Amino acid sequence: FQPKVLAGKRILVTAGPTFEAIDPVRGITNLSSGKMGYAVARAAREAGAEVILVSGPTALPTPFGVQRLNVQSAQQMHDAVMASVHGQHVFISVAAVADWRVVNPSTQKVKKTADGAVPDLKFEQNPDILATVAARTSLAGYPYCVGFAAESENLLEYGAAKREKKGIPLLVGNIGHHTFGQDDNTIILFDENGHTILPRADKLTLARQLISEISKRIDKHSLF
Ligand code: C5P
Repeated sequence: FQPKVLAGKRILVTAGPTFEAIDPVRGITNLSSGKMGYAVARAAREAGAEVILVSGPTALPTPFGVQRLNVQSAQQMHDAVMASVHGQHVFISVAAVADWRVVNPSTQKVKKTADGAVPDLKFEQNPDILATVAARTSLAGYPYCVGFAAESENLLEYGAAKREKKGIPLLVGNIGHHTFGQDDNTIILFDENGHTILPRADKLTLARQLISEISKRIDKHSLF
């Protein structure tokens, strides 16, 4: 039984990888399974919140009672988030958003050529969705922001620095990059007081603990 610590709150969650097209049948993505973000969406709903889940391509079922918006690219995820973020109390950015996209993806399948020439892919940077939303936090109607970070080393140092850089009150660090696709995780919460380790557990257990930690923190925040 989960206490309804988020009753009456609206929560926006991003989850999964993004997929950046090269042509209609090929693209660039990453190993995020979406499990952590989906667990967070489920835990938020269990806690009584109204939940919108903006999801990149995953093989996961939609958590019960959650409104899911499917997207493919980082730009689409950005647009879906920006269209729904106003009026949300909390934004939890769990998605592993691709940093770069291919400039001018081909509208037709790129063919192999007889001379063995390879495609000359050019990249441009995607918008940082979390930083964009965080920059609006002080405006009326914009949410308390929670970010995630997957670092391979120096997590304690990088986690605290990333929280500052993104301009967010709470950052969740995943220990190691072994979290991708796994059912278990170990996370560290970074806030203005330092860090707290939530020991290894399945992702739903950690998601419920995270939701409880968020609910305590937003109690102290003025949420329009
Ligand atoms: O900078 P880095 O990618 O490590 O930051 C991770 C955090 O930022 C995650 O919460 C992720 O969802 C978010 N992010 C984003 N848009 C991007 C890149 C990351 O929202 N383009």
